[in-house]
Amino acid sequence: MSQVSKRVIAAGFQNHPKAAKLVQDALSPSAELDFAEILVNQDSARGAAALVIGPAFDFDSDVACQIALNCIEDGTNLVIIGLPCQADSPFWQEFIGAKPLFSKPAGEWFFNIGSSCSLSARLPEEFAASGQLTVLEPRGDSQVLLSTSIAFRNYATATISHHLGSTICVLGLAPTSDHVSEDLASLIRRAAMIGQEPAKGLHIGSLGVGIVGYGPFGGMGTYHATAVAETEGMHLVAVVDSDAERRSAALHDFPDARAYATAEEMAQDDEVDIAVIATPPISHASLSLALLDAGKHVISEKPMCLSLREARLLIDKASAKNRMFSVNQNRRWDSDFRSIIYAVEGGSIGSLFNIETFVGGFEHPCRAWHSEESISGGAVFDWGSHHVDQITQLYGSAPAKVSASQHKRVWHDVTNVDQIRVHMLWEDGREAEFFQSDIAAIRKPKYFIQGTKGTIIGNYRPIVEETVSLPFGYEEREHHYAEAPAALRLSRYESGIGLVEESMPLARKQRFAFHKNVADHLLLGEPLAVRPESVAGVIATLEAAQLSATTDSQYVKLSEVEC
Ligand SMILES: NC(=O)c1ccc[n+]([C@@H]2O[C@H](COP(=O)([O-])OP(=O)(O)OC[C@H]3O[C@@H](n4cnc5c(N)ncnc54)[C@H](O)[C@@H]3O)[C@@H](O)[C@H]2O)c1
Repeated sequence: MSQVSKRVIAAGFQNHPKAAKLVQDALSPSAELDFAEILVNQDSARGAAALVIGPAFDFDSDVACQIALNCIEDGTNLVIIGLPCQADSPFWQEFIGAKPLFSKPAGEWFFNIGSSCSLSARLPEEFAASGQLTVLEPRGDSQVLLSTSIAFRNYATATISHHLGSTICVLGLAPTSDHVSEDLASLIRRAAMIGQEPAKGLHIGSLGVGIVGYGPFGGMGTYHATAVAETEGMHLVAVVDSDAERRSAALHDFPDARAYATAEEMAQDDEVDIAVIATPPISHASLSLALLDAGKHVISEKPMCLSLREARLLIDKASAKNRMFSVNQNRRWDSDFRSIIYAVEGGSIGSLFNIETFVGGFEHPCRAWHSEESISGGAVFDWGSHHVDQITQLYGSAPAKVSASQHKRVWHDVTNVDQIRVHMLWEDGREAEFFQSDIAAIRKPKYFIQGTKGTIIGNYRPIVEETVSLPFGYEEREHHYAEAPAALRLSRYESGIGLVEESMPLARKQRFAFHKNVADHLLLGEPLAVRPESVAGVIATLEAAQLSATTDSQYVKLSEVEC
């Protein structure tokens, strides 16, 4: 089988840094991206998977026309970003299947998905992006990929057409904003990479999912089954639960699914492409290993496992079996955390050097297995799996060493500790603290994040629903405080002015984004968002924290965590 090229050439982006950033964000790291100021001769794009053309491309040159024709001959995809109105020669109109009609000045525009194809799978029906906009008229067989309402009329603003083995996608928007729309980036990545080989061994079109552990509403089995039902390209095939009542509940909720009492039975089910492990933590590693061995792609609930040694076994097994292995680190998509990521990546608070996170209150711990050390792995593996993951995402790596202290003073009917504080240090002196407590009568902020230019604070914002109804009168219902996004404020030092404080908007909520990414990865070959390698450092940190907490809070180097 011939090697599929993943080289992408981008040209025509001089003086258009925001359009270039969109291309960079869309294609890195999926492809080897090569920005060229000009394409010197007609062979410049030969052998590439795609040619991406920016607003400054010289559409008038003879070389440009020849390069375009070569793309069709070679099966190279062509993506045009910010088609200028001048590119309206009969050759280009016919070739790209779009005629530029008129341009609108820079502003925010709303894009609606026009034609449903693999390019638009799992994208929201409408998304916003900013830039100068050229309105298009589709020509020949080309279809409307995106449309935009201007003065109550819908206009084509992106088109798609196919010639032999190439796809030609034309986008009328030339981005002008620092903030790249993730949906637009997905569309561009897909248009450029379409035809590249996705992962093998799948039921093409829709992935069959089996869930091990059907925890009730509030538990994760039900959550995953709902996520699968809501994710285009996935369908629920089977549910495994050792508890007969939970199997009946699964069949009641999803009558078309099969129910098994053991994971071994599900391993034999050929219609299951992906196994989701949603059992208590102690069984994550053994079940994941067994299902990878059986040839399934595997998603584990957090924590991925309870030791670095297990993490390495899992990563090696997935690689040996050529199967996807991922972990439901769904809180990477929480709207408060996404908002922090945007602020940090945009440079709003300078270089990070201290991150503190907190979770807890003064309340009896959960009375189920979640508070039993021999099943949960210990208190730090619960919220620590999310918070330490967020910390390592912000810093880009796991810490070099960890120390932890813990208290067991109040809740003696459960075995998890009441409180644990984990201090993490990086080689260059950056630090972080994760603090979890069931005996904190006043809640600390969820986030306190310091950079060299400013600080972000995120306060918990418990949600209480108030109702007045007859005959009961006033009633209130409090939801779990940690489910609501934190209220974020950013204070920045401006030279000559002093401190400037502002509240931060929350990023758009992305429902079941983890599952959508898994489908995008397996069906379209897109990058996997939660690679297990990125979670192994989290597990090593939590393991080191437990070791330190039981050895006088000594610092434990991650390089010394047993493997
Ligand atoms: N990602 C998140 O935001 C999030 C939130 C809550 C829980 N979790 C994680 O999800 C996992 C499940 O938690 P939960 O609250 O849903 O638990 P749960 O106790 O509500 O449900 C677990 C189910 O697994 C079944 N089970 C246990 N061992 C089994 C086995 N070996 N084979 C088959 N079935 C088995 C049980 O009968 C039960 O129905 C835990 O690892 C937890 O840490 C993640």
